[in-house]
Amino acid sequence: MPNKPAHEHPQPSENEAGAERSEPVLHQHTREIQPFGRIAKLSIALDEKTCLASIELLNQILADSMTLRDLYKKHHWQAAGHTFYQLHMLFDKHYNEQVALVDAIAERIQLLGGISIAMAADVAETTMIPRPPRGREEAPVQLSRLLEAHELVLKESRTSARLTAEAADYGTNDLLVSQVIRTNELQVWFIAEHLVDVPLVRADSAKAPTT
Ligand SMILES: [Fe+2]
Repeated sequence: MPNKPAHEHPQPSENEAGAERSEPVLHQHTREIQPFGRIAKLSIALDEKTCLASIELLNQILADSMTLRDLYKKHHWQAAGHTFYQLHMLFDKHYNEQVALVDAIAERIQLLGGISIAMAADVAETTMIPRPPRGREEAPVQLSRLLEAHELVLKESRTSARLTAEAADYGTNDLLVSQVIRTNELQVWFIAEHLVDVPLVRADSAKAPTT
């Protein structure tokens, strides 16, 4: 068979050019477009000083909420004892609720023109919640550790709710009151009831009132 005319063969240079255009461009590095701590102001009718103050408050609550979220997953995996199934399920429910809170807080920081803390190393440097041991703990220790973490988040959220209301940042105030505070309070109730020392099967007759 005679060879095809040269113009019907794709030229090697054309092949190479096409493939190059399809290949991902890797190892790209340049300066950040916004350094952490600097604001990229959006037109939301709040002044820069107010936005900066709210961003700082929210990043602390974000770091602590991410730590509390991860504490729930740790305890979900490491649950032990005869209440294993119940606690295993409850811890994961609360974990998922904290995931939703973390996303709402982080996105509020971004829309205020700030940068939300994201990576574990930055969370570890920022959080006020004490680091738990890597090992497995008894259920009552897990439960009381969670309650202390919730109380810390609630304290800083209430202070931040007051400050953001005073600064007329009602969007941040609403997020803190309607989502962060209410969710954490409800979770405290569900966790705390597991630490009320009542008999599981037989009522304690020794403590019953005599008639
Ligand atoms: Fe799981």
